Amino acid sequence: MNAAPAAARLPVLLVGAGAIGSMHARRAVVHADVDLCAVVDPTEAGRRLAESLDRPWFAELEAALDAAAGRDARAAIVATPNRTHVDIASRLVERGLPVLVEKPIADRVEDAQRLVDLAAARGVPLLVGHHRRHNPIVRQARRWIDEGLLGRPVSACVMATWLKPDSYFEPEWRRAPGAGPVLVNLIHDVDVLRHLLGEITQVQAMASNEGRGFANEDTAAITLRFANGALGSLIVSDCAVSPWNWDLGAGEAAHYPQQAADSSFISGTAGAFTLPGLQRWRYAGRAGWHEPLSCERTALHAVDTYSEQLRHLRAVAEGREAPRCSGLDGLRTLQATRAVLDSAASGQLVHLTPLHAGGTA
Ligand SMILES: NC(=O)c1ccc[n+]([C@@H]2O[C@H](COP(=O)([O-])OP(=O)(O)OC[C@H]3O[C@@H](n4cnc5c(N)ncnc54)[C@H](O)[C@@H]3O)[C@@H](O)[C@H]2O)c1
Repeated sequence: MNAAPAAARLPVLLVGAGAIGSMHARRAVVHADVDLCAVVDPTEAGRRLAESLDRPWFAELEAALDAAAGRDARAAIVATPNRTHVDIASRLVERGLPVLVEKPIADRVEDAQRLVDLAAARGVPLLVGHHRRHNPIVRQARRWIDEGLLGRPVSACVMATWLKPDSYFEPEWRRAPGAGPVLVNLIHDVDVLRHLLGEITQVQAMASNEGRGFANEDTAAITLRFANGALGSLIVSDCAVSPWNWDLGAGEAAHYPQQAADSSFISGTAGAFTLPGLQRWRYAGRAGWHEPLSCERTALHAVDTYSEQLRHLRAVAEGREAPRCSGLDGLRTLQATRAVLDSAASGQLVHLTPLHAGGTA
């Protein structure tokens, strides 16, 4: 990748330089649209990352914002642990900085609502890092839906099943409630479904921890109802040997060996498609189950989804694009995903209250 001249690039402050933060940092320093102006992370690893990229390092956010490097910032990325997102993002929004906050926007819906309300009141753009919305595969699917491929959406069937290695669970917190695959992983699938099919109104779920025996769930089965009448059926598991999940199929990250396997099957009254393989199914002539169905495959050029998210951050910060995943999107996706755990715990169907910036309707 060739970097553009520094003056042409938007200075971005990174808060949190762990696994995903360091990925953002490495992309930002060579990006055509943004640049990394400073790194905030209290750890020695954070300091070393900043040093290796030749950028100023700060242990604490206020110190960064008061320093010249921080005052240069025109946007910020928050890639810290979930429980800190709202506090850190709020401090950045108070300073008027557009923020990309990693997913989930918050641990709790009430906290996410406070952040969304603050950003709306201050008129500061807030983006949430549900990066799949920036993937050309999802963008193509969204175009097909906008063009009427599905007709009236009817159903979505989503598999999110993989085998996480035992080493993944060594940190204690990964075995605790809240760190299971529903809130950590399935939240991305829920966000993609909301992006493609619209708001979710009802959630019913069952969860199991029989696979690993930890306090949190390892497997869940979920039924969703969308406002347009479509229904969704999802299975998530982190203890199942399976290629049927977005991460192995989409090839977004080099640390997953890519498999040619679809994991989402979306259908409507006029057509259907799969993700991430983008097979498009429809009747060329008369429709009906005795007629031949045609299948087209669409191959796209690979795009680095996280770099595209950085390009979009700049475009939003400069008022040239509307957020593809706004704070309100992050809030509603969190609400629907938390409802999976609530329904699994209570055995009850959960009806979602419509949420808006500025409070419930
Ligand atoms: N979109 C994605 O693909 C994706 C992938 C992984 C993680 N995430 C999300 O990103 C966030 C971080 O996850 P991770 O896996 O990188 O975690 P991590 O533990 O590897 O990194 C978190 C970093 O934040 C730092 N930190 C903690 N408190 C801080 C503070 N007050 N100020 C500055 N830095 C602070 C820590 O020192 C650590 O370096 C989580 O919300 C996670 O859900 C998103």
